Amino acid sequence: MTIKTTEELKNLREGGRILAAILKEIKAKARAGIKTIELDKLAESLILDAKGVPSFKGYSAGGSSGSYPASLCVSINDEVVHGIPTARELKDGDIVGLDIGMKYKGLFTDMAETIEIGKVNEKLFRLIEITRKSLEIGIKQVRAGARVGDIGHAIQKFVEASGFGVVHELVGHGVGKKVHEDPEIPNWGRAGTGTELKENMVIAIEPMVTLGSPEVFLDKDGWTWKTCDGKPAAHFEHTMVVTKDGPEVLTKI
Ligand code: MF3
Ligand code: CO
Repeated sequence: MTIKTTEELKNLREGGRILAAILKEIKAKARAGIKTIELDKLAESLILDAKGVPSFKGYSAGGSSGSYPASLCVSINDEVVHGIPTARELKDGDIVGLDIGMKYKGLFTDMAETIEIGKVNEKLFRLIEITRKSLEIGIKQVRAGARVGDIGHAIQKFVEASGFGVVHELVGHGVGKKVHEDPEIPNWGRAGTGTELKENMVIAIEPMVTLGSPEVFLDKDGWTWKTCDGKPAAHFEHTMVVTKDGPEVLTKI
């Protein structure tokens, strides 16, 4: 776990603001008929234009999957996270997770949103809204002295009370000097447990919420996580600084 300096925080703020503007532009282009690879190309060129570096491209988690081939993760419907962009076209009624990370002035920020393509049914709309809200609820727990379990507990309680499932296998994380740093930030758990948050830590919270069962599996492409029951999932993520008074979200749109 790393505590960031004032200079690092300044650059993270700048990077986070730029990243949010980039995702906004990508979202505006995400509509029925566009190939997900086109969104990835746009992501990459916007990041490079901003003098950033796509942080997912070439990322390796260790293990046998090699390195991630794209600048953007695009996860459609039953794909939970880390979907690889392809020639597949988005279509009306899909929900699409867009996850993007950038290294800017040597420092990493990370964010994701799930959007609807055209008109989606009421259940999917609610899935997206509950997931967005669960991230907000998790963020509200953040301040120096709180524990990681406070975040997970708040998210899980809200999501399950809303009738949805929370994915256990994948977690949020520290971020800033690397794509992933300690501590892990699960979207479930017990209040008052886990690592204590310290002033000027930077973390990414990223709830993954399912319409049906929360069970997930890793696809044979080695990257894409999917729901076991084939039902849709949604994902939102923000990068934030832990302060004495609360969270300072760096990737606000
Ligand atoms: N936001 C994603 C995460 O924290 C980034 C994944 S890196 C990738 O898990 F290379 F897998 F895309
Ligand atoms: Co992340």
